[in-house]
Amino acid sequence: MTASASASDLDDRLTVACAVAREAGAVAREAFRRAPHARARTFKGPQDYVLESDAEVERLIRARLIGAFPRDSFFGEEAGGDFGSDVWIVDPIDGTANFARGIPHFCISIAFVRDLRSEIGVIYHPMADELYAARRGRGATLNGRRMAVSPLGDAARALIEAGWSSRLPNAPYIALVDHLYRAGAQVIRAGSGALGLAYVADGRTEGYCELHMNSWDALAGLLLIEEAGGFVNDFLSHDGLRRGNAVLGCTPALKDLIVAAMNLPDH
Ligand code: IPD
Ligand code: CA
Repeated sequence: MTASASASDLDDRLTVACAVAREAGAVAREAFRRAPHARARTFKGPQDYVLESDAEVERLIRARLIGAFPRDSFFGEEAGGDFGSDVWIVDPIDGTANFARGIPHFCISIAFVRDLRSEIGVIYHPMADELYAARRGRGATLNGRRMAVSPLGDAARALIEAGWSSRLPNAPYIALVDHLYRAGAQVIRAGSGALGLAYVADGRTEGYCELHMNSWDALAGLLLIEEAGGFVNDFLSHDGLRRGNAVLGCTPALKDLIVAAMNLPDH
């Protein structure tokens, strides 16, 4: 494929991914409004919720993306899939626990990876009607407006989200949060890693970090931050696509602090 053919096929993919994220978001929004939240709380493990909407939304996204690009592979959080050289990596609803509890902070996350490099990242927050989109080398936008990370460099004024999951023991998470508080930062955990990363890209917070996230939670948001001028760690190293990895996306000024707090090697 020539360089320009490849550029236009990525343009097409970005356009389709944005439309699919909005369509999937509308389905999730309707389901959220209908959901009797108390009854929606079924678990597949400790603090790990099962929602019918996750599977339904993922089926829709898969059908639309593979319908438009039949040679691409697809991997979704719910039903899995395969990893070809051109692969869509999808979290149908990130922030599942929020959704199940009636908290309107969740999103659709869609990334496209070509030859182990993220090329497209799209995140849609259906309850706020916010569409975050990035293409490598072309910048990142929120509802069409160009985004940039926060210019703030002082830890004592920073707001950092530190994600948590039951996949790792608590002690390193507590040490990470303790390190950030000692530096003067304010720390939150809002329950959707993908949306947390999108907020960094838009300069709403100064950083998002988590000691382990899966690729479907992380890839779209990390590309948004990179394209908005932030620092991101090399998530795809050590087979991050299949195994997940530590995640850091932040303003360049806060990189050293958060790398040290996370005890990240190779940075
Ligand atoms: C989780 C959320 C959470 C993050 C976890 C993820 P889910 O995904 O993004 O904020 O801390 O690492 O597993 O279960 O809501 O799809
Ligand atoms: Ca997720």
